[in-house]
Amino acid sequence: MATGEEKNKWNSTIDQNGAQSDNPFFEVTITYPGKKNTQTILSHEPPPVQRLWHGAHANHSKLFYGDNLDILAHLANDSAIKGQVRLIYIDPPFATNKVFKSRARKDAYQDLLEGAAYLEFMRERLVFLYEMLAEDGSIYIHLDGNMAFHVKLLMDELFGRSNFRNFITRRKCNPKNYTRNQYGNISDYILFYTKSANYVWNRPHQNWTDKRSVEEYSYIEKATGRRYKKVPIHAPGERNGATGQPWRDKLPPPGKHWQYPPETLEQMDARGEIYWSPTGNPRRKIYLDESKGIPIQDIWLDVKDAHNQNIKITGYPTEKPAELLQRIIEASSNPGDLVLDCFAGSGTTLGVASELKRAWIGIDNSLEAITTILQRFSKGLERMGDFVNTLPPKHLQQKALPLFQETDVINDFELWASDNIKENLASVLADWSQM
Ligand SMILES: C[S@@+](CC[C@H](N)C(=O)[O-])C[C@H]1O[C@@H](n2cnc3c(N)ncnc32)[C@H](O)[C@@H]1O
Repeated sequence: MATGEEKNKWNSTIDQNGAQSDNPFFEVTITYPGKKNTQTILSHEPPPVQRLWHGAHANHSKLFYGDNLDILAHLANDSAIKGQVRLIYIDPPFATNKVFKSRARKDAYQDLLEGAAYLEFMRERLVFLYEMLAEDGSIYIHLDGNMAFHVKLLMDELFGRSNFRNFITRRKCNPKNYTRNQYGNISDYILFYTKSANYVWNRPHQNWTDKRSVEEYSYIEKATGRRYKKVPIHAPGERNGATGQPWRDKLPPPGKHWQYPPETLEQMDARGEIYWSPTGNPRRKIYLDESKGIPIQDIWLDVKDAHNQNIKITGYPTEKPAELLQRIIEASSNPGDLVLDCFAGSGTTLGVASELKRAWIGIDNSLEAITTILQRFSKGLERMGDFVNTLPPKHLQQKALPLFQETDVINDFELWASDNIKENLASVLADWSQM
């Protein structure tokens, strides 16, 4: 495997005329008709909002019915929220030119913006989301191959290319029997950016399977029975200090240095943590029982959308699985933090954030989304099979249930609406009060 050496690549860029650029980032910008200036976006005057309901317990969680541009502009004037959000996850329309209905055939939302209009719609929201985020905050943007690359360029402009962390590929569904002359489309993408270099990060891990742990940790220590693997005890780069000197009369390989100074290596050897090859080369032992699991990489195969009749869902279109949000929320926030989703849909982010003891802000301008969220909070989810009134076959009933199931009734939040559309919620609230 080839590994390149880090170069300070973004600090010395040469423009087309051969001149050194002052910009620390190589300046690639995306242009399109109707691209507004950031200040014009931030001067958006939102209509007033009104609180329509609140739970018995004080909580910072808020559900807003309204256009997210209006609500974000409103929140940008609230010092308790602006700059305080630790994590943003958004799953916006993907520019599919489709309208979406729920499993119960109710109109949910339209995804009809395309091209420049779509990009500017996204950019307006991203400008406000930057304002919302705390200095150590993170943002995840869920898209597909249609606009992910265009939005990546917008994000580089708005958040800074150096704050780009990952372009995550998610397997969204099982293989399809695709009839077109192209590869089956089973992936979508999540762009992960942070606001700065210092951000909340709780590295997520997957549990070892028996098979993988035996393959990876293939040795057993005779004295203790502990399973271990052997790894080099040197690292790339030459050093002049102690780690570049001989240890036990052995120099590190050319271009490398010992990972630890000689006295630490001696202590490790005394504890039996170093393996000596028959030719006298030291290797470090890494024990399976000290491993937290397999660190999650940037291809996620295990958090597909609901794919069997036994999985519990709300029935809202393009609903994302709770396990996906569990991974993101646990990795990039801590209990007590504020999480924001301004394309809330069925409320997956909000439900999981509640379960994980985070406060949240959810926004959606679809009545069906608000209805679904309120239902999710008071009645929970339904098995996917129940939407078609058929029982899943026996073999599917035995398949793994989602790792994560929201279980509690959620009622410690406030419901707000933009003044200009709040009347639309009257019948939703009446039905909700009967639940
Ligand atoms: C892809 S769905 C989100 C699904 C969600 N992640 C889930 O797990 O259920 C996108 C949502 O964005 C909402 N939306 C689209 N444009 C909006 C806008 N301008 N303001 C607020 N919500 C909007 C739609 O109503 C829809 O519910």
